[in-house]
Amino acid sequence: MLTLDTELARAFWGEGVLDVEVAAGADVLARCAAGAGAPKDAIGWLDVDKWAGKKELEHVEELATRVRERADTLVLIGVGGSNNASRAVAEALRPAGCRVVYAGNTLSAAELNRVMDELSGHDVVLDCVAKNFETLEPGVTFRLLRQWLESQVGTAEAARRIVCTGTPESHLETLCREHGWAFNPFPADVGGRFTALTPVHLLPLAAAGVDVRALAEGARAEMSALRAASAGENCALCYAAVRHLAYERGCAVELFASFEPRLRWLGLWWQQLFAESEGKEGRGLLPVVASYSEELHSLGQFVQDGSHVMFETFLDVTTPCDGDSCSVGDSSVEDGFGYLDGRDLWDVNHAALAATQRAHAEVLPVVTLGMERLDAEHYGRLFAFFEFSCYISATLLGVNPFDQPGVEAYKHRMFAALGKDAC
Ligand code: PA5
Repeated sequence: MLTLDTELARAFWGEGVLDVEVAAGADVLARCAAGAGAPKDAIGWLDVDKWAGKKELEHVEELATRVRERADTLVLIGVGGSNNASRAVAEALRPAGCRVVYAGNTLSAAELNRVMDELSGHDVVLDCVAKNFETLEPGVTFRLLRQWLESQVGTAEAARRIVCTGTPESHLETLCREHGWAFNPFPADVGGRFTALTPVHLLPLAAAGVDVRALAEGARAEMSALRAASAGENCALCYAAVRHLAYERGCAVELFASFEPRLRWLGLWWQQLFAESEGKEGRGLLPVVASYSEELHSLGQFVQDGSHVMFETFLDVTTPCDGDSCSVGDSSVEDGFGYLDGRDLWDVNHAALAATQRAHAEVLPVVTLGMERLDAEHYGRLFAFFEFSCYISATLLGVNPFDQPGVEAYKHRMFAALGKDAC
């Protein structure tokens, strides 16, 4: 289960202020829950069963089995929405299937050479994920890694080790037909950053050994509950209302903080979702990820004592899983930490979390999203929660959550400099 605790923000803003904001968002909630007014080619993710239903799960599991029979390593070639969700789950849950290596998210030669070194000696399958297949990073990386793979195992075997996740009837699908590469359909009605619960990410996650059925089930339960809940009971609307109120009251930044380093990649997924969906027309909150307690020793100073331009959302895993306990043994060395004797590091970390929340709440609005467990089901719930709340939040802000016109500006200049149109 997920819970949103807004008590500290309510105390900061004053009695009833957030409730007024939530009530004012009731119409937007109703429209978003129905997908009303959004382009039909953007909201396929609202119905979790459409892209993570029985048929899709069987399809990705079958493809994943084929990947695992052939390889110990899957290279996920993709950037932005074609990369982040898989990485958020696989890096946190550390599943026992195929190792996943990430590429196609940089133009650094040193990084690509490092990836090729890392792949050497392994049985490798490439998954090129590209909705448009025009993005430079995955495009050039796919070519280079394909050539590398062919040099290792020959063209015929390489063809059996390539999967492309692309839009049906795209150039990438044509290439798959021509070269005998497997094809995994990228939903035409879902934009990159909203694809967490579609075959785009279900395939690499299934290959990695994540329980994709639990992921889909958690998402389905959360999305249905959020679409059905009234304004006063709706955590997604409440979170969107917190963001909107903070923005209206002069905040420029939302800090997304967690005391669990394994959640860093979830933070980066969240950052991309909100930055590309909301940062437009001169509006929006800058989403910034904070990894505590390490960054209490850097950002922490600014948050407590610098200019108060932000509000803070904490993500807290409330129940320990296997590996989340580590008892601090007594020591005969007088090291000054005797007050920790016999305590568990899980509890120490949570004491630091609670202290930070209280300290920061004195100077800025603080909310906490509680996630009961760090498992596939809860990742599904988180993806559904943030995607739906992002849709509401951007609608409250008055921007289109589903386009990203700002990223075109650098692309035009880069493609011109590289002579793309001359070819
Ligand atoms: O959310 C988005 O739409 C973007 O972040 C895309 O996912 C990203 O630009 C990659 O696009 P593509 O899959 O077409 O290469």
